[in-house]
Amino acid sequence: MEELIDKARAALQHSYAPYSGFRVAAAVLDEQGRIFTGVNVENASYGLTQCAERSAICTAIGEGATSIQQVVVYTPTSEPTTPCGACRQVISEFAKDATVLSVCDSDQQLIAGSSGLIPHAFELNKVKR
Ligand code: THU
Repeated sequence: MEELIDKARAALQHSYAPYSGFRVAAAVLDEQGRIFTGVNVENASYGLTQCAERSAICTAIGEGATSIQQVVVYTPTSEPTTPCGACRQVISEFAKDATVLSVCDSDQQLIAGSSGLIPHAFELNKVKR
């Protein structure tokens, strides 16, 4: 987990958050032991903003990951930040059994499982007939 935290902290420099000023970075560990990072990427058309967690997960999936084992969310704040609802849904798709750890610049941290973050998530088996 320490390596994921270090990589998320290092990635934060790439966060693009000129509108909210709220910078977020994430790191994910895939089933092959690889680590991918992502940051929030905002846009003048606010609704197009991409969260850090989804950036990291999409990068991992694009590189062939099939199952995310761990997710770390880092914010340079005094309290940890948990994934937004949209990110929880995406975590449930690709990181069903993952541990999700939120860390910040204090000793406070939050840890959760994917199903705890989004009970009754909308799933593939509900789309398939
Ligand atoms: N943000 C994330 O990157 N992840 C979350 O789970 C919550 C929100 C970003 C989106 C936006 O750039 C900024 O935080 C403020 O909402």
